[in-house]
Amino acid sequence: MVSKLTTPSLSELRQRKSTKWREYDLDVLPLPVAEMDYPIAEPIIDAVSEMMKRSDTGYLGKFPELGQAFAGFAARRWKWKVEPESIRIATDVGVATIEILRTLGAPGDRVVVMPPVYPAFYNWTKEINFPIVEAPLTKLARDSKSDNHYGYRVDLAALEREFAAGAKFFVISNPHNPLGMIFSVDELQDMAALAKSYGVIILSDEIHAPLTYRGEVFTPFASVSDDARNQTITLTSASKSWNLAGMKCSIFFTENPELHEKLEPLVKGIRHRASLVGAVSHVVAFAECDSWLDSAIETIENSGEHLQKLVAAHWPQVSLSQPRNSYLSWIDFSKTQLGEDPAAQLLERARVALSSGIPFGSGGAHHARLNFATSAEILEEAVARIAPCL
Ligand SMILES: Cc1ncc(COP(=O)(O)O)c(C=O)c1O
Repeated sequence: MVSKLTTPSLSELRQRKSTKWREYDLDVLPLPVAEMDYPIAEPIIDAVSEMMKRSDTGYLGKFPELGQAFAGFAARRWKWKVEPESIRIATDVGVATIEILRTLGAPGDRVVVMPPVYPAFYNWTKEINFPIVEAPLTKLARDSKSDNHYGYRVDLAALEREFAAGAKFFVISNPHNPLGMIFSVDELQDMAALAKSYGVIILSDEIHAPLTYRGEVFTPFASVSDDARNQTITLTSASKSWNLAGMKCSIFFTENPELHEKLEPLVKGIRHRASLVGAVSHVVAFAECDSWLDSAIETIENSGEHLQKLVAAHWPQVSLSQPRNSYLSWIDFSKTQLGEDPAAQLLERARVALSSGIPFGSGGAHHARLNFATSAEILEEAVARIAPCL
């Protein structure tokens, strides 16, 4: 039976020590960074508590349970057959992305992204001097007759232009952060075919995938075609979907034997830098927490619907994305007086922290991202504080 998750009160949340609750002054309502306010799953609490009781807090070594747990999850949720032995462990998706690029490429190699997109893609590649090039998603007109409810679609011509110009890598957020967009099988197949014909390696960041809404079907990139299987390295983690970001663990794998082999040199070092408590909590998340995940999805969907209603009632000049995955809302403030960086204005004037749209790349100005994995009360307060500023 699925039951909704109950968010702790604001004063309880403020006792958390994570960045969401440490970053801002106490009068600010924090709705930026992708952490959920819900209580985590009991089986994870139990497993981690048992470890602490045993003083089992050493380094992480071989951990085949994690490959097995993820393969089981992928088979149950997406009917995707993954070889448990192909799965490698890393500190987090960021570290894995950086180390994969460093291992397969060289500074100066261009990396394509599709903005507006998760800002860390820009930071990670900058850190290692791999220049980013953009193939922005096409924004559809608001009154567009299209049945695409995300308001954006992939620009294949732009992607091909960058691939043809010599880009070596394509980093995609699948599903897409900040739009909560599930790519269609056709779109994924088209992107994979282009990557194959220009020899581009795809890094498919599937960290938000488990939080796909009821009635929607998430498609793992590597599963859509032979081209995709050959070109793709999949990166994921339980950190978004079970709220374990501070546990520091992620996985990556490819079904292309040649690429798998090329990544072998980084395997031991990168695993050593992940955490044992992270690996244990990830095993439990993937293997034993489907019902908690179902509750989280239902809770998130309800919260998203509540936000849509609040916005329709109190922010008539603002439009919101219609996510079908995860708990992020991409907000278009361009019809308000808030200027290029609404988040900066709203932090100052409403004492509500949103993520600024600007670091999300082209198309990010006049936008902000709101994390709605919180209580109805907190959302209502945030909407009420912002309304007079619009
Ligand atoms: C698309 C995407 N990838 C990666 C991450 C961060 O993952 P990690 O903490 O494992 O680096 C996030 C966090 O919000 C994200 O939204």
